[in-house]
Amino acid sequence: MHLNKVLMNLRSLSAQGAWLLLSGLWAPAGAQEMVLQVDPGHIRSEVQPTMFGIFFEDINFAADGGLYAELVKNRSFEFTLPKTGWLEPHSNPYGFNRESGSSSVLKYGAEDGNQTYLRVQVQKPEGYELINEGFRGMGIRAGADYRLSLRAARGDGAVRAIVVNLVDSTGTSLGGSRIALDTQGWKDYQATFSASRTEPRAQLRITFEGTGSVDLDMVSLFPADTWKGRPNGLRKDLVQLLYDLKPGFLRFPGGCIVEGRTLARRYQWKKTVGPVADRTALINRWNTEFAHRPAPDYFQSFGLGFFEYFQLAEDLGAAPLPILGCGMACQFNTAELVPLDQLDPYIQDALDLIEFANGSTATPWGRVRAEMGHPEPFHMKYLGIGNEQWGPEYAERLALFTRALRQAHPEIELVGSSGPFAAGDFFEYGWEKMKELGVDLVDEHYYMSAEWFRKNAGRYDSYDRKGPKVFAGEYAAQSVRTASPENKNNWECALAEAAFITGLERNADLVTMTSYAPLMAHAEGWQWTPDLIWFNNLESYGTANYYVQKLFANNSGTHLLEIGSEGKPLSGQQGLYASAELDRKAGQLIVKLVNTEPRARDLKLEVTGGKLGRKAQLSILRGEAPDALNSFEAPTAVSPVEETMNLGRSEIRLSLSPGSLTVLRADLR
Ligand code: AHR
Repeated sequence: MHLNKVLMNLRSLSAQGAWLLLSGLWAPAGAQEMVLQVDPGHIRSEVQPTMFGIFFEDINFAADGGLYAELVKNRSFEFTLPKTGWLEPHSNPYGFNRESGSSSVLKYGAEDGNQTYLRVQVQKPEGYELINEGFRGMGIRAGADYRLSLRAARGDGAVRAIVVNLVDSTGTSLGGSRIALDTQGWKDYQATFSASRTEPRAQLRITFEGTGSVDLDMVSLFPADTWKGRPNGLRKDLVQLLYDLKPGFLRFPGGCIVEGRTLARRYQWKKTVGPVADRTALINRWNTEFAHRPAPDYFQSFGLGFFEYFQLAEDLGAAPLPILGCGMACQFNTAELVPLDQLDPYIQDALDLIEFANGSTATPWGRVRAEMGHPEPFHMKYLGIGNEQWGPEYAERLALFTRALRQAHPEIELVGSSGPFAAGDFFEYGWEKMKELGVDLVDEHYYMSAEWFRKNAGRYDSYDRKGPKVFAGEYAAQSVRTASPENKNNWECALAEAAFITGLERNADLVTMTSYAPLMAHAEGWQWTPDLIWFNNLESYGTANYYVQKLFANNSGTHLLEIGSEGKPLSGQQGLYASAELDRKAGQLIVKLVNTEPRARDLKLEVTGGKLGRKAQLSILRGEAPDALNSFEAPTAVSPVEETMNLGRSEIRLSLSPGSLTVLRADLR
């Protein structure tokens, strides 16, 4: 049979079969055993607890419509088209119906904060209805409680009550409540009710008793069961997935979202703290970024704002790593610049952020934090200035930030950027400038092919050790090409990342922070793929890439060891990769082994300079084929299998499965 035909047939085989058949084809019988040496007594450096972290950006409906559990889209009528998300089924296309009622959006007159509200004119009792469509619907669970809150002001006429109901696509109620309007002016009302049925695409219907006018604002609906039970909090299943990663840091709020397509639409942290109703909504930069994935209804409510990010980092046991704009709009878009002599307000934002996070409650921004319920400092240690910036325009702006920040806050570690490219002139120039400016960490980004990841596991072996540390801040193997909508979170990419990560770990003296990106995507609302976690309105799952991250992060040691074959690191020879660490607290040797070849490999690990204990735990992660995926239907198709093995005194024999990541934790005496 021709090789082409064999390869075609492989596609139709079960994935497991594919690796095995390839193994039979390609593996010479009795392939030589690979011999590796590791010495747990020979420490190269400490491994930082920040080694494996998470990168959060509000892309793919990751915040509004995702992590932030609000179910109502455009709750305060602030979107550019202020009735976005709100349907008036009985109205004509112009939004009114003389017989039943109508609505219009009015302005309070404020420049900032909450600017608009909705005025409803009810002509016919119970004839007018207003429906919020949620974020591709609302995920509702049978028996769960939902908390509705809204602001209302009764106007002319006699509207006695507002009736809220969750409804399915036929308009059948799944639960609701009646809110009696007991006063004329603005008042906050609340109601809790439970859902009778599970429904992935429910909507919220609002009707009225009586006729007349009524004003509405901040119409909000949350599940009662949020992460840590916090009212108006975060979606529990999604935070749990993050928590399970045991991340060493949380980078927020992005990504390009930091910069904005224009300066006016940049992320401004001060507008994301304080009472949620006062946070000014802003169009999400991913709303219009990709013509092939338009999301005209994608805005940022900032209900998940900087306070909530710091709180999330604390909940996760992760160091907070905020990234702030540096006076440059996204260079892929408008590349607008703030003149150097007008940069002070931007620098002040950075100084004030440190006060907000760490300052005493006697300081103005420390007081804001305390008023929000967190008098204790957030112990922020890292701050990034600029996301994916490049060129002299960045260097000269960053210079002004570093000067001011070093002077006022020498305790804060500053993160600069080497730009969006993994190599090339901009990258080289960026690094040179970062060294000159003396930043503590340089944020590198690479969205490259699986092959690139396999070939670049040695990327950091020869990096300069005297300059800044490396923050591998955004990376992900792309199965097609960067930002292609066809990219998949397949096993080939996840395995290539695992191979690459052994290279990050082998260089843990230099690379002290790493994070996959992007983190999350709504299955019906995404703009960018691949992503670490996928979710819909009710469910979520970690991808194959997620389990790679989890295995590395959950098995990160305290000290870096050398591991290699004949004195050389194992970094792609015969498709094999390895890294090793000591976990001093647990008294264990940790070895990660990646076999990217489609055949099993026998391996002998000689442990010198220390004695092995009696047992080792193995976690083995493998997909059944390079194109294996996790999905809503099979969320753990690619997930680790745990085994225990007995140990000899000084050597361990393993057979690495075809296309696999193996994590070994061996007890030491
Ligand atoms: O992760 C998606 C985007 O990729 C980020 O916003 C940006 O920093 C990078 O270009």
